[in-house]
Amino acid sequence: MGSREHQVRNEWDRIEWIAPDRLQVEDLRFDLVTWGSPKRRSTADRFVLVKDAPFAQSMRAILDGIEVQRVLEFGLYQGGSLVLLDALYGLELAVGVDARSEMSAFDSYVRARDAEHRLFPYLEVDQADRAKVRSVLVRHFLDAPADLIIDDASHLYAKSLATFELAFPFLRPGGVYIIEDWGWAHWPRAFTEHEWFVGEPLSKLVLEVLLIQCRHPSLIERVHIDAHHVAIYKGPAALGGAAGAPFRVRDLYLSSSAVHVDERFPG
Ligand SMILES: C[S@@+](CC[C@H](N)C(=O)[O-])C[C@H]1O[C@@H](n2cnc3c(N)ncnc32)[C@H](O)[C@@H]1O
Repeated sequence: MGSREHQVRNEWDRIEWIAPDRLQVEDLRFDLVTWGSPKRRSTADRFVLVKDAPFAQSMRAILDGIEVQRVLEFGLYQGGSLVLLDALYGLELAVGVDARSEMSAFDSYVRARDAEHRLFPYLEVDQADRAKVRSVLVRHFLDAPADLIIDDASHLYAKSLATFELAFPFLRPGGVYIIEDWGWAHWPRAFTEHEWFVGEPLSKLVLEVLLIQCRHPSLIERVHIDAHHVAIYKGPAALGGAAGAPFRVRDLYLSSSAVHVDERFPG
């Protein structure tokens, strides 16, 4: 194997597919469920993941070359996605926020690994509750920001916007902010037959993110989009104001805005 091949390591290659809807990482199994499929419950070594099979290739590409150690996820369901990331990366810190009140399989996973000091689920917290979410962010990510933030919670525009405005300042330069299932308002099949989400399409936020990238390319360096994920790569620019202070998305893309961004273009 050449030296370049030695350098190329992608944690997502550690996944072993057992069936199109079942995968394994060492001794942990994951069952994939999607919209409308029968409900399943997680156990401490077998987790439900609300994903379809191509998600893994997509995440592999999005996170290629990104150091992932400090993770924040909104929308945990039974905790499967944080457990998968922990199994793949051996996380230093994983913080999760969900409106649910119960995640017993995740709790068992944490206890079995004595991981109470690095895996923190915050339940009964709405992703748009500015006071509660901000206290979680300040507690875990003010001194050492996140490498990866995932929003897989409500998929509603206003709530996802609030989360982005709160959490993006706590992402490190070079880190990735992923919004999942952003295109539900435009999907066929189950989504034309059933109203899974009620409210403004989440795709509106994606378009606004693209406008920020146009206005401040050193703040949002790159945006990857596929059918399920939007991955927003943070650049070296710093938002003005106190560390971790929230911002308003629309103030960042309108030409008339007076928000200060320290652009820090390379060279
Ligand atoms: C699609 S599931 C998450 C799936 C999980 N990330 C996985 O891959 O297995 C969405 C989760 O978001 C949570 N959720 C929905 N609306 C929310 C809100 N406004 N605030 C916080 N969590 C919310 C739901 O309780 C649910 O657990």
